[in-house]
Amino acid sequence: MNRIKIHDAELAYKDVGQGQPVVYLHAFPLNQSMWDEQVAEFSQTHRVITLDWRGFGNSTLGSSDSSMPNFADDLAGLLDHLGIRAATICGLSMGGYAAFAFCRKYPARVNALILCDTRATQDTEEGKRARFETAELARSRGTSAIIEMMIPKLLGETTLKTQPHIAARVRQMIEAANPEGIAKALIGMAERDDSTDLLATLACPTLVVVGQEDKLTPPSEAETLSAAIRGSQLALIPQAGHLANLESVTVFNQVVSEFLKRM
Ligand code: MLT
Repeated sequence: MNRIKIHDAELAYKDVGQGQPVVYLHAFPLNQSMWDEQVAEFSQTHRVITLDWRGFGNSTLGSSDSSMPNFADDLAGLLDHLGIRAATICGLSMGGYAAFAFCRKYPARVNALILCDTRATQDTEEGKRARFETAELARSRGTSAIIEMMIPKLLGETTLKTQPHIAARVRQMIEAANPEGIAKALIGMAERDDSTDLLATLACPTLVVVGQEDKLTPPSEAETLSAAIRGSQLALIPQAGHLANLESVTVFNQVVSEFLKRM
């Protein structure tokens, strides 16, 4: 694991392998270790970059907001440090929201997009209120309250029943987050821009991936997203929930590998 000061935070990141760069952006409230299986697989053929967003995993929080545009600036700063002009960007859920902000601010730096279990729309008013309440919960009761709330939503029914080690791994990732980092990311997500208008402007190859059992961003959301992006492909991952890459590693990696090979 490497560390670099970007703006006002120290970010932990990995840079493994050689070839065309692919960046994997993690979900809320996890960290880059959710991509360990993708790092192992794709670093054999590509240069793979992952990072912990500010306030998650081994990254410090800094004093700036954890807004999606700030996440995009953090990523741009990391890519500058690594000498990478443009990359394939793969974001899952909050990683997808950050990917949209990155596309908006740095369109020339995106070679291709992989949008997993995410949506382009903003939160509803009710959704925003729930985020602010959850931010207060993280501040008052810490990560344990967030773990209990999030695990049943993040994982699909099949995983919850048959893969307890994945729930344990997700629990560990949430425990590693800074409660204030969780609160600030919740506010960042609540205040994120609607990216629907961006979709028609995306000109790069795009793959949309969704777990068949995703409760947070269900397959119908992925269909809407894919239909709005010209030429995009849609892949459904059976027996997986919101964390499709963790819950069904082999199928997820195969789908991504085929997409990367076609580029
Ligand atoms: C995530 O997985 O990143 C979050 O569930 C996203 C969200 O809450 O909208």
